[in-house]
Amino acid sequence: MTTPQLAFGIDIGGSGMKAATVDLSTGELVTERYRIDTPQPATPEAMAAVVVDLVRHDEWTGTVGCAFPAVVRNGIVGSAANIDESWLDVDADKVFTEALGQDVHMINDADAAGLAEVRFGPEAARKGVVMMLTFGTGIGSGLFVDGVLVPNTELGHLELDGPDAEKRAAASARKRDDLSWAEWGKRVHRYLEHVEALFSPDLFIIGGGASKRTEKWLDQVDISTEIAVASMANNAGIVGAALIAP
Ligand code: BGC
Repeated sequence: MTTPQLAFGIDIGGSGMKAATVDLSTGELVTERYRIDTPQPATPEAMAAVVVDLVRHDEWTGTVGCAFPAVVRNGIVGSAANIDESWLDVDADKVFTEALGQDVHMINDADAAGLAEVRFGPEAARKGVVMMLTFGTGIGSGLFVDGVLVPNTELGHLELDGPDAEKRAAASARKRDDLSWAEWGKRVHRYLEHVEALFSPDLFIIGGGASKRTEKWLDQVDISTEIAVASMANNAGIVGAALIAP
C-alpha cells in the first residue's frame, strides 16, 4: 500500500473556523473535523491565534492551506464583507505564517470549495463552465472553465432586489428574516435565475451550510441549468484549502 499524501486545510467562516488533515488522493478527512468559534471581532491577530490552535490540535507540522471568506490575491485580502474591516489589504499569508511558524497559503472560501468539487466531485464538474455557489453567512462563488479556476469572482454581491444579493439570499438571511425554507428557496431561485442569465453556465454546484438541507428548499428552484449538490457538503472548504497547501 502506498502512503497517502496528506495535507492540512482550514476553512474560516463568519461563525466558525474548521480544520482537518485531508488525504489528497481521495479528498477524505483523515482526522476528525475540529471547530473553534470565529473570534469576535474577527481581527487578524485574534484569528491567527485560532489558526495556531487548530494546527497544533492535529499536531500538523507542514504547510497549511486556508480558505477565507473574502477576495484573496497573492495572500492579500481584498474585501471585507463578512469579516472585520481591519483585514482589508492585510497580507494574510504573512500574518498566519508568522504566527504559526509554518507556511500558510490563503484562498477564497468558495474558490476552495469549488476546487474540491472539481477534483473529487461529479465528472460534470470538470467540463465546461461550472459555477460553485456557497450559501452560508454570505454567498460565495467559484467559477471554473474546464476545471480551471477563475479566482475571486464575487457573485454574492451582484445587485438584485436591493444592493447585495447575498443580503437577501444567503443562508443567514433565512434566519434573520425568519423565513420558511420555501420562502427562502424562492429567493435562491430568483438569484440563480439571475446568475444563469448572466453566465449561462453548464452546471451549478450548491454548497455551504444550506446544502445539507436541500430537501427543504431546492424544489423552489426552477431553472434550466443542471444543479448538483456539493458532494462533500460542508467539508469542501477544508478539502479545497488542503489542495492548495502543498
Ligand atoms: C465574500 C466572499 C465569500 C462569501 C462566502 C462574501 O461576502 O465577499 O469573498 O466567498 O462571502 O463566504
